[in-house]
Amino acid sequence: MKIAIGSDHAGFELKEHIRKYLESKGFEVIDEGTNSTKSVDYPVFAKKVAEDVVSEKVQYGILMCGTGLGMSIAANKIKGAYAALCLYPTMAKYARHHNNANILVMAGRLMGPMIAEETVDVFLSTDFEGGRHERRTNEIKELEN
Ligand code: RB5
Repeated sequence: MKIAIGSDHAGFELKEHIRKYLESKGFEVIDEGTNSTKSVDYPVFAKKVAEDVVSEKVQYGILMCGTGLGMSIAANKIKGAYAALCLYPTMAKYARHHNNANILVMAGRLMGPMIAEETVDVFLSTDFEGGRHERRTNEIKELEN
């Protein structure tokens, strides 16, 4: 499975940790930056990762900033991107089960590496339930038009 990841300076350390974690588990990772803790603007990286997902270059995206809020707001401006801020694994479970999110967003300044690993594991291994949830995600798609 191919995954695109990106962060700003506040998510950089967690991004590095998660990139290495995913690579160690055999995932192919496209790292869209940033590449240091030098201050940068999160919408740049949200756009890159969201476009990788929407164009189907990758199956899922993972974004990190300080709180996860800016990345979520920015990524969700790209049509076809469904970015969900998940601070712990249960949120990731329902982001996939109920919301069919295709981008996981995490908070570099609020989450430790172990909870982030578990959140990633759950997000990447959980399927969309469909059914009544699909009716709702289709209603979201209508809002895009
Ligand atoms: C950067 O200081 C911070 O604002 C950013 O990482 C993010 O938390 C924005 O939502």
